[in-house]
Amino acid sequence: MEKLKFIIPTKEYEQQAYEYIQEFNDYNSPINGVGGLNRYIGDYDGWLDKIKKDRTIAPTDKKVPGETFFLVREADNKLLGIINIRFTLNKALLEHGGHIGYGIRPTERRKGYNSYQLYCALKFCQKKGITKVLLTCNKDNIASAKTIQNSCGVLENEIIDPTDGKLTQRYWINVEEALAKGKEKYEDNNSHILK
Ligand SMILES: CC(C)(COP(=O)(O)OP(=O)(O)OC[C@H]1O[C@@H](n2cnc3c(N)ncnc32)[C@H](O)[C@@H]1OP(=O)(O)O)[C@@H](O)C(=O)NCCC(=O)NCCS
Repeated sequence: MEKLKFIIPTKEYEQQAYEYIQEFNDYNSPINGVGGLNRYIGDYDGWLDKIKKDRTIAPTDKKVPGETFFLVREADNKLLGIINIRFTLNKALLEHGGHIGYGIRPTERRKGYNSYQLYCALKFCQKKGITKVLLTCNKDNIASAKTIQNSCGVLENEIIDPTDGKLTQRYWINVEEALAKGKEKYEDNNSHILK
């Protein structure tokens, strides 16, 4: 795998950010983990401001504080993925949503990018003192379920999502354990990947 950057979104990526959302629409793919970017088309500055404020908002039943990151390929500076990390859970997120939402643009999938993106997010969680992370996914979302399982996700249960009637799987990841596993893969063998 080539060198990747896990970064805070900046103005430089304005055009790419829109193209990223457009690609999901073109491929009719569900959008997840973009920190609301799809609601800010044409107002990138507003979105940058929003995600900045998201870091420190007081947790409520509707919103919790969080941080959004871009995964970028160093060679061509291409935006590959976006991931959103919630610092706490409310009642709704505890059932559906969990601590982390993510996506990889449709034309760059199945290259291991999301697994690496999650690893970077878990490193961030560790820095924030979050030791156990909840991830939820639709049972038929094999790509997401495998990402989670490969990152030491332990299935707690499956519950029905009232919005679509589908089964949601709820997994817990022990951050330390997942990072130890990821370290072997991404860092110990003199890895190709940037931190
Ligand atoms: C879920 C998603 C982020 C995965 O991204 P990705 O970069 O393709 O994931 P990876 O390449 O890291 O693959 C993770 C694992 O899933 C497997 N996988 C990926 N796509 C798969 C597919 N279509 N069918 C079966 N397995 C798949 C990979 O082989 C890998 O497992 P392995 O390491 O054991 O081989 C991407 O499909 C996506 O953006 N989907 C739309 C948004 C979404 O569903 N987000 C999650 C909501 S819970």
